[in-house]
Amino acid sequence: MTRRPLVFIIWSIATFLALVQFNSEPTYAEYGDVVLNRYSDKAGVRPVVYPHWFHRIRFRCKVCHHELGFEMRAGANDVRMNDLAEGKFCGMCHNGDIAWGLQNCDLCHSARPGLPAGIRGGHKTLGPGRW
Ligand code: HEC
Ligand code: HEC
Ligand code: HEC
Repeated sequence: MTRRPLVFIIWSIATFLALVQFNSEPTYAEYGDVVLNRYSDKAGVRPVVYPHWFHRIRFRCKVCHHELGFEMRAGANDVRMNDLAEGKFCGMCHNGDIAWGLQNCDLCHSARPGLPAGIRGGHKTLGPGRW
């Protein structure tokens, strides 16, 4: 029983760290799908469905929101196909290496034509083609 205090201390630290981590990151957009449609409709392709949760469970927030420069606000990002082809934004991973490549137009451009940019769905990602 002499190890009890130590266990308690470790538990306390772990709980504290978990709370700090939790509070330092906004949680509202971890779920759901983000529709990107700054240029798609105008250019005659379907808007893009970005399944946030699907990616979020695979990568840390800072990979995209810091290193890749994605603003944490739906519709705030100015993304063009040329950027992706140069390995920026989605193109850092969707290059046929880390994830399937840019030739799979329909997997990204999967929303109903005319669907405005924004978050869809509250608590889960539905994936391509559901909006
Ligand atoms: C990995 C996801 C992804 C794939 C695959 C993809 N796109 Fe895009 N595409 C985007 C994103 C994100 C945008 C910006 C959406 C917006 O704001 O309207 C975009 C924008 C566009 C635009 C708008 C004009 C411009 O210059 O950006 C066109 C046209 C386009 N894509 C065509 C295509 C075609 C054709 C393919 C297949 C050869 C393709 N896309 C594959 C994600 C993708
Ligand atoms: C693989 C890339 C990626 C990862 C990892 C990621 N995000 Fe995002 N996030 C995005 C993209 C792309 C958007 C949409 C930006 C747009 O619409 O212009 C977005 C949008 C958001 C938004 C804006 C939602 C709104 O209502 O406007 C928030 C908040 C956010 N993310 C938080 C997070 C948090 C917190 C994490 C980690 C738990 C995370 N993201 C992980 C790519 C990512
Ligand atoms: C940090 C790396 C990374 C970035 C950035 C990224 N993706 Fe992905 N994405 C992945 C990986 C890995 C997968 C899983 C690929 C597989 O299953 O082969 C994936 C899968 C997907 C899927 C399929 C989801 C499903 O349900 O199967 C879509 C759609 C998608 N990404 C769209 C996008 C769009 C649009 C962007 C940019 C707004 C983007 N991704 C940015 C890594 C990334």
